[in-house]
Amino acid sequence: MCGIVGYIGKREATPILIDGLSRLEYRGYDSAGIAVFNDGEICVEKYKGRLSVLEEHVKEKNLNGTIGIGHTRWATHGEPSDINAHPHTNCAGDIAVIHNGIIENYLKLKEWLIVEKGVHFKSETDTEVIAHLIDYFYEGDLLDAVYKAIDKMEGAYAIGVICKEEPDKIVAVRKDSPLIVGLGDGENFIASDIPALLKYTRDMYLIENDEVVLLTKDEVKIFNEFGQEQKREVFHVDWDVEAAEKEGYEHFMIKEIYEQPGGIDKTLNRRLNKEGTIVLDGIKLTKEDLDKINKIYIVACGTAYHAGLVGKVAIEKYAKIPVICDVASEFRYRDPFIDENTLFIAISQSGETLDTLAALREAKRKGARILSVVNVVGSSVARESDDVFYTWAGPEIAVASTKAYTTQLTAMYMIALHMGLTKGTLSRERYDEIVAELKTMPDKAQKILDNYQIIQQLADEQFNNESVFFMGRGLDVEVAFEGSLKLKEISYINSFAIAAGELKHGTIALIEDGTLVIALATQNHLYDKMLSNIKEVKARGAYVVAVAKEGNEEVEKTADKVIYIPDTMDELTPILSVIPLQLFAYYVSVARGNDVDKPRNLAKSVTVE
Ligand code: F6R
Repeated sequence: MCGIVGYIGKREATPILIDGLSRLEYRGYDSAGIAVFNDGEICVEKYKGRLSVLEEHVKEKNLNGTIGIGHTRWATHGEPSDINAHPHTNCAGDIAVIHNGIIENYLKLKEWLIVEKGVHFKSETDTEVIAHLIDYFYEGDLLDAVYKAIDKMEGAYAIGVICKEEPDKIVAVRKDSPLIVGLGDGENFIASDIPALLKYTRDMYLIENDEVVLLTKDEVKIFNEFGQEQKREVFHVDWDVEAAEKEGYEHFMIKEIYEQPGGIDKTLNRRLNKEGTIVLDGIKLTKEDLDKINKIYIVACGTAYHAGLVGKVAIEKYAKIPVICDVASEFRYRDPFIDENTLFIAISQSGETLDTLAALREAKRKGARILSVVNVVGSSVARESDDVFYTWAGPEIAVASTKAYTTQLTAMYMIALHMGLTKGTLSRERYDEIVAELKTMPDKAQKILDNYQIIQQLADEQFNNESVFFMGRGLDVEVAFEGSLKLKEISYINSFAIAAGELKHGTIALIEDGTLVIALATQNHLYDKMLSNIKEVKARGAYVVAVAKEGNEEVEKTADKVIYIPDTMDELTPILSVIPLQLFAYYVSVARGNDVDKPRNLAKSVTVE
């Protein structure tokens, strides 16, 4: 993970680097550092802790150089500490490197450098190896030395390098970790992600894998792995920087929860024509294409995987094609059976999750057609797919994913409905009914948000629990998984989700007096069975909060508390029923005094394995 940023131009680099890092902190926040040219020397400032710690330190220093690189870290090799923070330098301190990724063969390289050159290592990181390697190969040409160094490096990396001998350039490289270049007037930038640069420029180059970039203040040159210069179209960003700011909300997470009606609406309406037909222009899912598909894999990680679980149910129901939904980190090593009749659907908010990307590449290698559901335009997953369905969530900054999930669900329903109608396995009449109901989702989601006080009050009563169980049946199980993940990642409460029918096969042993159980009971056809499951845990002393549809008040007789969502079709409930669970996780985390947007040990974009 980690975030990198670099600036070369006529302005003071330090404030630009710090500002860029503040927008990348979601990628890692256990330490931060910058290296800036100052009076002909490379000055490095790096500290364990949040960016604010670095900011405090640099205030006292007079770092007024106009070229520099910066880094915010999520530790992989070596604990968070001042020494392990980036930038890392060679022994003489005249080459500085920032790095996002993992150098897999760093131990071998380290040993080689110690033996060959008697290098003395200061940190435990894999990154320090890069600085010494570049130094080892340096003979007056930084670009050449970087090429020679990366030739030895295995793994995933986006790096930025500056060198005292060549104070008018930054060299950057991308291999499997995201890297963009921002283009200015007499100034240029590098960063891991677009929001870091939006304040300064909207014109970007999206750097491809294995490309090396040479930046001066007036010019950007992109080379491929063989050193041949590459042409690149300018990518113009048309969304606003405000979309990546809090706009008066206390946290990004709550802002993003409230942005869900808009996100669902945009995702739906951008691909719906006047006749109410879903238009998947540019996505090759014609009848002929679909008739060839005999199996679909949906592969993703975390919350995106939970959206995939719902997508599986929808595709099987409407399009009658068997679907396997798998987590990317398992799929890629499973030797899955794939042929040219397999459709592989990757779901990813960031489009940079390394496991998802690796799974996609594995499926592609085996001949599958790749469709991705992605939020970040131009991201790696999007670029490496045959077809892309973009969600319209807008930038998601909080580590805990919310609006990405509900827009991914919307996208998956649309893909499933399109498949069903095109294949003829879903009647036009039923299709129209479901699309009409989908159109009501933004208003219904808003209604839940308008009643947030009920959930806030519940969180205030329950925030001290040691453990929480989520249970449901049918589609409610998939939502239970997501509700449980949301709660554990930002509240640090030990939460667990289970299919309610499985309870009595073991897990019910954990239910005791006062255990909080959140029981999703939104599926009409499984409602009575859920009421029985609620009774089972109540009989063991559980305190049950049910989530049910308006009109299904029977549950009040059994549960201790009921949160209602507006009535809707059973198959579409996940878009709505997850919202109270997101709000619950949020308010519990606030009540516990946690850092909601930056929970411990996590980072937004997991670009390491
Ligand atoms: C949880 C969360 C993660 C992500 C996962 C995949 O709130 O955000 O579980 O869903 O890391 O990330 P993307 O969707 O960017 O591939």
